[in-house]
Amino acid sequence: MVSINPINNTAPPIANLSSPHLIAIEGMSKIEILSLLNRANYFADIEISKIKKNLCGYLILNVFFENSTRTRVSFELAGRRLGAEVINISVDKSSIKKGESLLDTANTLSAMKPNLIIVRHPESGAPKLFSEYLNCSIVNAGDGRHEHPTQALLDALTIRRRLGRIEGLEIAICGDIANSRVARSNIHLLNTLGAKVRCIAPPTLMPSGLKNLGVQCFDNLIDGIKGANVVMLLRLQNERMSGSETPSKSEYFHYYGLNNEKLKLANPNAVIMHPGPMNRGVEIASSLADDEEKSLIKMQVEIGVAIRIATIEALNFKNNLNE
Ligand code: CP
Repeated sequence: MVSINPINNTAPPIANLSSPHLIAIEGMSKIEILSLLNRANYFADIEISKIKKNLCGYLILNVFFENSTRTRVSFELAGRRLGAEVINISVDKSSIKKGESLLDTANTLSAMKPNLIIVRHPESGAPKLFSEYLNCSIVNAGDGRHEHPTQALLDALTIRRRLGRIEGLEIAICGDIANSRVARSNIHLLNTLGAKVRCIAPPTLMPSGLKNLGVQCFDNLIDGIKGANVVMLLRLQNERMSGSETPSKSEYFHYYGLNNEKLKLANPNAVIMHPGPMNRGVEIASSLADDEEKSLIKMQVEIGVAIRIATIEALNFKNNLNE
């Protein structure tokens, strides 16, 4: 039986994932999610020197076709803390720039015999394609508008460490829902763990069909955050927009940006989160982002390393399984 809130700090077992890959939260069982959260919770508290370097001799490639600070660095730290060799490849410096196709690049990387490739890509489905063609494990570090599974896992553990539970919480996700892989992964994960999820966005940034995922939808922040325990803000993903979806930045902040005044409508103990990178004065008031009582933004980054250690460690690498 996987516990929801481990009472003590003894090491929970290594999480057991049914797949050699982590592509999406959609389809993961509650037990798989909880076992990852419990194991990561343990890594968040132990000294770095106590982490067993069980992956000595293993090769991890961090392949990022889109920019990243938090995800790339935390996967690199996670791999190194487990003893693996970690190589970072960014598309700016790769032969993609010379016209090489995605699959040719994937096959080239595969020839170096990695055990795991961590992929970020602007197109939804690229990590899944890698997982089908290559003889190694794949972790999705964010693909287009599809999913960012380790972000949702770290968000859930951050909430659980601060508020003690996920089940029954009212969680409001506000901003560019239509273009957000973070929102999609969080909706699946938070629903699976029994939270009540609301999405708040201008009508132009609210995807159709969201209500089918069991989410309450609001087109204004004032109604949407009433009584919420958690307010999760999202960046406007201008790189995925055609240009006419949002008003000016100041108008957006007026209607959808969170400040102290609007936060008073949420639960008195509400916390605020943001996956980053954040745009101060657009989706969140700068003073609120830095308010250590209410803002969990730094904690999210810290917990990200623990989640990624637990994830890498839990994968039954595809090329091990095939040997
Ligand atoms: N949250 C997130 O994915 O941040 P980065 O783009 O910096 O990795």
